[in-house]
Amino acid sequence: MVRKPLMAFMVLAIGTNFAISADQASIPGNYQVQIPDSSKIHDQPIEVQVPKGLPMLTPNAVVPASNPLTAGKIELGKQLYFDPRVSSNGTVSCATCHNPEKGWADAQKLTIGIGGAVNGRNSPTVLNTVYSKNLFWDGRAPSLEAQSQGPPQAATEMGKQTHEQIIERLAAIPGYQIQFSKVFGTGVTLDGFAKAIASFERTALSGNSAYDRYSTGEFKALSESAKRGMILYGLRLDQEDEYQPENVTLKKANCTSCHLGTNFSDDQFHNLGVGADKDGKLADLGRWVAEAVGSKNTASIGAFKTPTVRDVTRTAPYMHDGSEATLESVIEYYNKGGNPNPYLSKDMKPLKLTDQEKKDLVNFLKSLDGEVVPVALPKLPAGPDGLSPDPRAALAVPTATKAAALKLNVHSTIQGD
Ligand code: HEC
Ligand code: HEC
Repeated sequence: MVRKPLMAFMVLAIGTNFAISADQASIPGNYQVQIPDSSKIHDQPIEVQVPKGLPMLTPNAVVPASNPLTAGKIELGKQLYFDPRVSSNGTVSCATCHNPEKGWADAQKLTIGIGGAVNGRNSPTVLNTVYSKNLFWDGRAPSLEAQSQGPPQAATEMGKQTHEQIIERLAAIPGYQIQFSKVFGTGVTLDGFAKAIASFERTALSGNSAYDRYSTGEFKALSESAKRGMILYGLRLDQEDEYQPENVTLKKANCTSCHLGTNFSDDQFHNLGVGADKDGKLADLGRWVAEAVGSKNTASIGAFKTPTVRDVTRTAPYMHDGSEATLESVIEYYNKGGNPNPYLSKDMKPLKLTDQEKKDLVNFLKSLDGEVVPVALPKLPAGPDGLSPDPRAALAVPTATKAAALKLNVHSTIQGD
């Protein structure tokens, strides 16, 4: 009995020793990680001011201890985010699909990547992802750092290429070499690439909406219709507010079962039946595919992450498959209780909303639009050819050519197809 914890301790001790004594040369693919040497870093920690209504970006909590926010890192990340040279043919940047001018999404039903390849899912906003514990509709990435390494390698997003190829291409750009050296004290690495982009994304915040101003006592910030919508949604009006409508049932629309908290998301996965056909067959199994074999749960079949509804008017069309074009149609979808299927969430039931109640809900959702913070496009460092690409060119969504096969699909064993 006594030996067990002792052994665990020894394993831990060996692990620690190894980490301390490891030099860069002993780590496989050593240019993919950066081992910071603080004496070589010339960068300033920075405190990002959050807009009204959002929690602070607390270091070591909201922002991971391994990647503190610094001024140089955010600037470097911004350049990488807008740089089409991350893609294999220099045409697509992260901003192609997550364009700050389009609510940090792309206004497409299904996202369109390199060469016009149509992907299987809708592009989610990057806004407020700093507060998300799981990234992607199915939550398969545990951090923004992990997430950012996926798209550059995805054949239908930024092209079929290896991380080594991307890092080699970026390392040939002198301006990136200089910045990586300043910010991380290393050359260009995949780890640094991920950390810089994640840092920039953590500054993409949506707050100070009419709802946030209402919540801090500015009662006129919301119309009476939005206030009724707020009650139906599941939130109480301020007791000090003179407007206290009768005959409006708190939580009649049941939205706060899932879209709650400062970022209006429980960070959980739910099956709303989106994408189910008339026989209840699901087109995309969602979370279930992302779960490790051995810990799969039938509640995850066809379940997707609850997205934030902040800034929601700017990110149409909606749902993981872009199947709902407008907020009005989203409300209709909830009102009918979603599409029946064997795994439908218990929280999806017909709501019996009146036409006025539907309007009130939409008006409440509109009150969650944040203050628009224009993002000035960065000047990109010149490449070995002496040219710096214009980041604006990559903001144009490619013309769709072919529908790519759903990568995370779908008609796998569970549906017996
Ligand atoms: C071709 C379009 C496209 C490109 C290019 C692209 N993305 Fe995405 N992004 C998507 C789609 C689609 C999803 C959702 C995919 C899924 O859930 O399976 C997504 C998901 C995300 C998410 C998760 C958001 C959330 O709420 O879970 C983040 C963050 C993100 N992308 C950032 C980036 C970054 C950083 C880059 C550049 C390195 C990038 N994306 C490049 C289309 C794109
Ligand atoms: C059972 C949990 C749950 C409930 C209840 C719920 N939602 Fe959702 N909501 C989600 C999930 C999960 C998604 C994504 C579903 C998908 O794409 O398959 C979503 C998507 C949305 C979207 C689309 C956002 C986008 O960026 O695509 C809007 C808008 C929305 N919900 C508003 C509401 C409103 C308004 C209510 C109340 C009438 C509500 N939701 C009730 C979980 C829920």
